[in-house]
Amino acid sequence: MKQKPTALITGGAGFIGSHLGDKLLGEGFEVLVLDNLSSGKLVNLSSGIEFIQGCTTDKNMAQKLVDKADTIFHLSAIASVQASHENWLETHRANQSSTVTLLDCITNTKRSRPQSFVLSSSASVYGNPKTMPISESEILSPLSAYAADKAASEYHVKIGSRIHNIRTSVLRLFNVYGPRQDTASPYSGVISIFASKIMNGEALTIHGTGDQTRDFIYVGDVAEYFYRANQKADANSQTYNICTGKSISINELSHIIADICETKIDVTHEPVRDGDILHSLGDNSRAISNLNYGPQTDMKTGLRHTIVT
Ligand code: UD1
Repeated sequence: MKQKPTALITGGAGFIGSHLGDKLLGEGFEVLVLDNLSSGKLVNLSSGIEFIQGCTTDKNMAQKLVDKADTIFHLSAIASVQASHENWLETHRANQSSTVTLLDCITNTKRSRPQSFVLSSSASVYGNPKTMPISESEILSPLSAYAADKAASEYHVKIGSRIHNIRTSVLRLFNVYGPRQDTASPYSGVISIFASKIMNGEALTIHGTGDQTRDFIYVGDVAEYFYRANQKADANSQTYNICTGKSISINELSHIIADICETKIDVTHEPVRDGDILHSLGDNSRAISNLNYGPQTDMKTGLRHTIVT
């Protein structure tokens, strides 16, 4: 009988990682999840997934798990810009040293079969881009410690490919939404915050005019992109924008959510958040052509999946 491939997902108990785990189980993988549960939750894990509690920066633990894996999906991070400024060194370890730890484990493994590595990066590496839609060739201009760590992680991945011949891909995620996204933290995505407030009959807070726009992509499509980016991982290390190529304003978003919930919304306005960018729209043509996949879930369908759960 053919042996199943094994995938290690760091941060696999989190919002995006847990959807990727489900996708990989469905594709016949053995799935190992390494997560310290700082933001991930055990309830996100489907049965059949092997869970290991720990930090990606724990070299001994990471080496043991990397030794078992054919492919490593690196999603663990402290995904908060504010935290990256308040706890600079701690977030740096979680968001950048973790990447080097895993790549170093790959170079040290005794395993004979070659491994692949997929990095979850962020559109925040672009900062305030000069051109819109943003293509992957846009100059990187991180504006936060979080974005700087993601950009540096990307460079380390390229080194992993160039010097050590590791098969890699890098995904720059735009605004991901969907079921299991945390609503409790002030750094949660706007969609999960709005959905939870509307369902609790609370007023929405809009920062600024609400005319700012974002390119929102459904988490199921993001999981599909991770799976395909691994299939295409090679020593040329391609980078992909993971987005829809369409954007909507925060005002429009609030109206669509209100329509779905069949309710009227109350809105209060607050000042623009520090460091908020006005518009974000990605060019996803490279992902569509190289990974042979375009986002399948439109905004209304994705929001319905998000709001009923
Ligand atoms: C997102 C990422 C962030 C990344 C950044 C740049 C998420 C959760 N965050 O931030 O990690 O660094 O892209 O690529 O995906 N808003 C409101 N009211 C609210 C909440 C938010 O008006 O209650 C507004 C924000 O001010 C912002 C927009 O909605 O203008 C989107 O906010 P958010 O979902 O936090 O995402 P980004 O700021 O785009």
